[in-house]
Formats: sequence, C-alpha cells, structure tokens
Amino acid sequence: METVSTDRYAVMGNPIGHSKSPQIHTQFARQTRQAINYEALLVELGGFAAAVERFQAEAGKGLNITVPFKQQAWSLVTERSERARVAGAVNTIVFRDDGSRYADNTDGVGLVRDLRVNHNIVLQDKAVLILGAGGAVRGVLAPLLAQRPAHLVIANRTDAKAVELAGRFRELGNITGCGFDDLGTAPFDLVINATSASLEGQMPPLPDDVLAAQAVCYDLMYSAAATPFQLWAQARGAAKAVDGLGMLVEQAAESFCLWRGMRPETQPVIARLRADMST
Ligand code: ATR
Repeated sequence: METVSTDRYAVMGNPIGHSKSPQIHTQFARQTRQAINYEALLVELGGFAAAVERFQAEAGKGLNITVPFKQQAWSLVTERSERARVAGAVNTIVFRDDGSRYADNTDGVGLVRDLRVNHNIVLQDKAVLILGAGGAVRGVLAPLLAQRPAHLVIANRTDAKAVELAGRFRELGNITGCGFDDLGTAPFDLVINATSASLEGQMPPLPDDVLAAQAVCYDLMYSAAATPFQLWAQARGAAKAVDGLGMLVEQAAESFCLWRGMRPETQPVIARLRADMST
C-alpha cells in the first residue's frame, strides 16, 4: 500500500498563542490536497537559533517566523530573496533537501496582493503615506515601491527613524521620511498604519486634512471590531477603511506557494477567518 508522508511546517514566535497561521495553512492544505502538518511553536527569547536547528534536524520542511525573530532569522539562512535582502528581515524559511536554508519575506507582497487583488486598489502614481518606521514597515517597503507610487512618505513618532529608513530604500523609488508634525498639507490617496499604536488603543496624531478625496486607509492590524485607525478613517470620510486580515492570509499563501509550488485560494480562507472572529 502506498504511504503518504506528512511534511512538517511551523511558525515560531514569542508570543505565539494567538497565531492564526496553523488554521490558515491547514485550510490551504485541505484545499490543495497537500499532506502537511503545521504547528505554532513558542520559542524562548534566547533560544531561536537552537530551535531552528532542531526543527531542521527533525526533518522540518519550512518555517514561518514572526515577532520578535524576523531579523535574527535573516542572519541564520544561506540564501535570501532580493526582497528579503533589502528588508533585513524574513518571515519564511525553506529547508532544502541539500540542507541549505532559503529565506523570503512575503509580508510586502501579501500586503500588495490584498490591496490590489482583494480591494482593487491601484498604487501606481498615487500619494502613499505609511505610519511607523519599525520592523513591519521595513518588511513591506520594497514591494510597495515596486508598484511605482508617485511618492511614498514614512511618518513616525521618532522622526529620525523615518528619515533613516527612507534613506535605505532611496534607490527603489521616490521615498522620504518625517515626523507626524512635518506632514504638511499635501493629501494622500492611501494611508497605511504600521504603528503598534492600535495595540494600545491609540491613534498616531495626524493632521485632519491628510486624506485626499476617495482616500483608502489600511491598518496592518486586524480585529473583530474596527481598529482605532479604521474608526479615525471612517470619521474623516475615507472611501475605504480596511484591516490587515487579508494581508495575513495573502502572506501565508505566498509562503505556502514557496513550500508546495501551488497557490491556494485565499478568498474562502479570509471569509472563514472573518466569520470565526465575529462569533
Ligand atoms: P513592528 O515590528 O510592529 O513594526 P516595532 O519595530 O516595535 O514593531 O515598531 C513599532 C512602531 O510603532 C514604531 O514606528 C513606533 O514608533 P517609534 O519609532 O517612535 O517608537 C510606533 N508606535 C508605537 N506606539 C505608538 C504610538 N502610541 N503612537 C505612534 N506611534 C507608535
């Protein structure tokens, strides 16, 4: 009788308890009839390199990496995609049969896919503002700039971090960095919140006239109820105010594609997660 071996995958992070990745990848596997096992692994703060080593030694095929290990993961691989190289952080590792480790960062392409395909938002020639200058922003800048926005402004509470980050990506497009107070009066077509302010129930201090007519607002965070940023956007007449659940599923689909060579359908998975969140 033919036996089907089950390939092993996991997401590593700290904390990891609320990760939806096992649910997402299990649905992808069922949909595409792939025999995989995907689990969430809590890793001690000083124990990441050893945990990756152990997972590979136990014949693990691939990993997703989340906070706070994305940058450390970058330094633990043999080869990186171009977008992972410029991001300085990775969220996906492929363990190849020859023992080498290939890494990618699928966060940015997941965001762009959610914007373009799921929400029908064109970025080309648009004025784009991104709030925050931390790891989440680094991971998405290269794919956003590849869409050729007219310009991309990074605004951050600590303005020096925004200026420094913009400087690193200067060669990839028209990008500048500033503080929230220096945003000026030119309105933006797309505003992306990548600060962790929502986690604290807060909203970065933005000028009231920052949104252009028909502006779209996108929060990298997601929750069952609207986030503070979505509420802010709705109150200022944004044409759309969406959260990051779609990006979460799209970045997972990109990882799945790297590991299994096939693209799962994301819409039913997004719909199911949304339904589960509201019950
Ligand atoms: P992540 O990996 O999620 O990007 P991070 O690297 O810790 O996390 O970055 C958090 C981002 O949220 C930073 O840009 C931070 O601003 P500072 O660089 O000034 O710290 C921003 N942030 C966190 N809390 C905020 C708040 N209450 N208001 C505005 N920005 C906030």
